[in-house]
Amino acid sequence: MLRNTAYLEQVGEKHRKDHGQFFTHPKVANFMVHWVLGSGSKSIFDPAFGLGAFFDPVANEYGIQFSGCEIDPTILEFWKYTKHTRRHETNFIANEDYLLSWDKVSENIVCNPPYMRFQKFLNRDKVFRAFLEKLGLKLSGYTNTASAFLLKSISELDGSGRLAYIMPLEFLNTGYGTIVKRRLIEDGHLSSIISFACEKDVFPDVTTSVGVILYDASRFHTYVDFHTIKSVDLLSTVLEQAPVSRVPIDGLDPTSKWLPYFQPYTFTVSSKETVSLNYFGRFSRGIATGANEFFVLKPSVAKRLGIDNSELVPCISKSSQVKKPVLEDADCEALVKRDAPILLFSASTNHSKQAARYIQEGEQKGYHKRFLTKNRTPWYKTEHRDPSSLLLGVFSRGSYKIIRNRSKAINLTCFHGFQPNLFGMKYLDHLFLYLASASGREIASLSMRKYGDDLDKFEPNDLNGALVPSPKILDELTKEKIRNAILHIEKTGETPAEINYLFARLKEPA
Ligand SMILES: C[S@@+](CC[C@H](N)C(=O)[O-])C[C@H]1O[C@@H](n2cnc3c(N)ncnc32)[C@H](O)[C@@H]1O
Repeated sequence: MLRNTAYLEQVGEKHRKDHGQFFTHPKVANFMVHWVLGSGSKSIFDPAFGLGAFFDPVANEYGIQFSGCEIDPTILEFWKYTKHTRRHETNFIANEDYLLSWDKVSENIVCNPPYMRFQKFLNRDKVFRAFLEKLGLKLSGYTNTASAFLLKSISELDGSGRLAYIMPLEFLNTGYGTIVKRRLIEDGHLSSIISFACEKDVFPDVTTSVGVILYDASRFHTYVDFHTIKSVDLLSTVLEQAPVSRVPIDGLDPTSKWLPYFQPYTFTVSSKETVSLNYFGRFSRGIATGANEFFVLKPSVAKRLGIDNSELVPCISKSSQVKKPVLEDADCEALVKRDAPILLFSASTNHSKQAARYIQEGEQKGYHKRFLTKNRTPWYKTEHRDPSSLLLGVFSRGSYKIIRNRSKAINLTCFHGFQPNLFGMKYLDHLFLYLASASGREIASLSMRKYGDDLDKFEPNDLNGALVPSPKILDELTKEKIRNAILHIEKTGETPAEINYLFARLKEPA
């Protein structure tokens, strides 16, 4: 740090500000450099070299090929005379403007880019022209140099390399940031963003939030992890901890604000005790018929039409049809007795005369021309599905609906349905109890999307990435405990305290 102070004393505040010179904390630089080296390549490029904060951690490491560029000859000269390395050559850092030197490819990139508004940037017009010509991107006048550096570096990253950028994160919430966010996620390579709740330690004079962006071109990421850390000392282990939010990459909207993903909840989820739900199976959307008025029949209507039971499948067509936490065949029979619309017309191509008549009637009414039906062959053949063992309400206000389905009823789009994999088959009751428990609800809710008017919505992919107890914890539930707990829930509608207690340990204070 002494070197940085000596440099600043020599050049003065104006020079530093004009060049956007802020220096990376050695612990942060060390973390970023070693993360990119995790790609397996020993080559590193730093487009905004400064006094070599990213070079220092590997300066004396054998076999590293470090290169970079730096626009300011003054800082480069200062570095040459004060560098902390046994290496004598210094020409691996070019004295040039990164935003105007194009057509390089780098295996790994680390950077703390200069942070200035483009309004103040001398070469602004040339840079804008180059971005349009080379990347087809029209930068907004509000863009800052840091975002432009990031966009350019992503475009220059080798297909198997990694990129780590430390920069102000305000672009995650602003309009000009949309193109940057879009670029970060469009190829599925954004891995994590770590926000520093301790930004004053990292950049003593910053006023915005600062964070590290980790982008790995060698892998496709289904989820992006948003971490928050309270001290730079926690950086070395942050990626082993559960993130504040884990958001499916295809659920991230570049036009919306991303900073709320870092907002620490009052707890974090223990990564040692949890796995993703898709370890046990998957939730998927319920069956979309494309015309429920045609496909979902009341028993009295099916009888009048003479349609046989072999061409009908019991189905839950509305969330309100399920009033109890456990759905049995007897409950479906009760719905049939009440003449509720719970029979899905499921004729095969080889159907009865009565079904043929009903299909014809449907065509006369134009049901075969609806958006979904016209794209199905034959239009009246809905998807075949096995009944899902767990049903989870798509929309909720306050608390979601979770149902243990033991009936033969399949579900339409009012519920997402869970199909276990081979391993998950024996954990259906356990998962039901977890999702019905107080902590399960809080943890699953981290994966919910918030809509206006207090309305919450689950997307199947969000749910599949939600953290649930590991098999080790679920195995603590004996058959007897499970039976008693489910009976208790059926009787009282409440999850027993013992179950809430078991799963509460997944939550750790933030
Ligand atoms: C935020 S400092 C980071 C320095 C160093 N890498 C670190 O992490 O401590 C950004 C550096 O980029 C340099 N710089 C500014 N504009 C540049 C440009 N257009 N091309 C290359 N370097 C630039 C500045 O002079 C400054 O040294």
